[in-house]
Amino acid sequence: MKIFPIPKSIAYSDKRVELRDAEYINDDALEKEEYIIRIESSGTKIITSGKEGRFYAEQTLRQIKEQEVTACVIHDKPKYEYRGFMLDSVRHFIEVGEIKKLIDAMAFMKLNKFHWHLTDDQGWRIESEVYPQLNAASVRKYSDFGRSFDNNAYGGIYTKDEIKDVIAYCEERCIEVIPEFDIPGHTSALLFAFPELSCSGEAVEVKTHQGIFKDVLCPAKDKTLEVILNIYGEICELFTSDYIHIGGDEAPSNHWESCEDCKRKMSELGITSFKEYQNSLMNAVIGALSEKGKTCIVWNDAAEGKNLDSRAVVQYWKENDKATFDFANRGGKLILSPFTYYYTDYGYDITPLNRTVSFNPELKEISSDSVIGVEVPIWTEYISDSETLEKMLFPRAAAVANTAWSGATEYKRFLMSFGTCRKMLEKSGIRFADVWLWKNKRAAMPLGWLRFVKNNYSLNYIKEQLK
Ligand code: ACM
Ligand code: ZN
Repeated sequence: MKIFPIPKSIAYSDKRVELRDAEYINDDALEKEEYIIRIESSGTKIITSGKEGRFYAEQTLRQIKEQEVTACVIHDKPKYEYRGFMLDSVRHFIEVGEIKKLIDAMAFMKLNKFHWHLTDDQGWRIESEVYPQLNAASVRKYSDFGRSFDNNAYGGIYTKDEIKDVIAYCEERCIEVIPEFDIPGHTSALLFAFPELSCSGEAVEVKTHQGIFKDVLCPAKDKTLEVILNIYGEICELFTSDYIHIGGDEAPSNHWESCEDCKRKMSELGITSFKEYQNSLMNAVIGALSEKGKTCIVWNDAAEGKNLDSRAVVQYWKENDKATFDFANRGGKLILSPFTYYYTDYGYDITPLNRTVSFNPELKEISSDSVIGVEVPIWTEYISDSETLEKMLFPRAAAVANTAWSGATEYKRFLMSFGTCRKMLEKSGIRFADVWLWKNKRAAMPLGWLRFVKNNYSLNYIKEQLK
């Protein structure tokens, strides 16, 4: 029988049997997500210690029902406790109906974290009652994402009721919803509502195009920490998760370098590195949110400051990053989303399926118990419709889900067990990229990258970033 993700073990007898209604048995000795399924001619038994194990056993049973059944004992539990999927709802607003469809697919593949990227330069997507001016930051004047141009104002915001609905939907499927409010960079929408939180205090537009912007928060202004903690407080009341993502990626220091307030603050703190200066703000948030019982996740840009609070979990997207390995080797925990393997917004010519499958989370530079799991992200600058969204995700998201659950990274093994999963997801309406695309081999990568840069970045833009 073919089960996806690949289970820990299946012991077969050679007897074909009819599948009967399952009897559920509790065994507190099993781990929370672990399950045993015994299929015998006398009946089927599902043994778990609670809700999660039972849910995963049911996902497995749904697949078995589609196949010829052999008497067997399946013993299964995940390799990683953190098995994530990240969706960028800022660059394009994804409707709740589409999110639920994706959540169903993710739950079927036994993922258990939905990282929801809700704030960025191009819009604010969480309804706020504490600061209603943030709601106006959900709209940008037009959209110019390189490959596409739309002259119409573009916006969207999830109301608190919609967010609660998504959280409840996920909870029924054993998925924790982790919101991301990204600081101190990627904050143009926040600065549109609160220009006084930047170094210059000048007006900031909600951005209309992709990129890394120099409009970032000024860590030296007292009001910066006050406002962001109030926003995090409102977010923490809404989201029931243990984790919260506070960003930390791609925050240029240009304005800090010339800001008198920043210079004074750095000197007071005795800090000369801008990465450590960034972390003076991140650490204040990490400390305050830990008092609310939350664990903060940060992108691995933040690990470049050696003072990063070790209570944070670091999400590794920039690869071969020594600062991240040092953080892990000091006892810090990591989630792995290496961008040349796991970023599904890149074309299949850049990241073919076999490359995504091949990533081994057991990195040689660090101890394997530093890694709590893996996550598959999708950024939506170039994705404005649900068909493209699904085709970029599938089948690559399945590859990450398989590694997250089983640890397996062999392409042939992946394809063997993936067949049933694909058939079932297609039946539930998920659209997959054409098979010929998945088969692109690495040889296509240099051309893919060239095309990517040419389509998305003008020479002027690249020069600007290199300054
Ligand atoms: C990232 O891709 N900027 C985390
Ligand atoms: Zn400043």
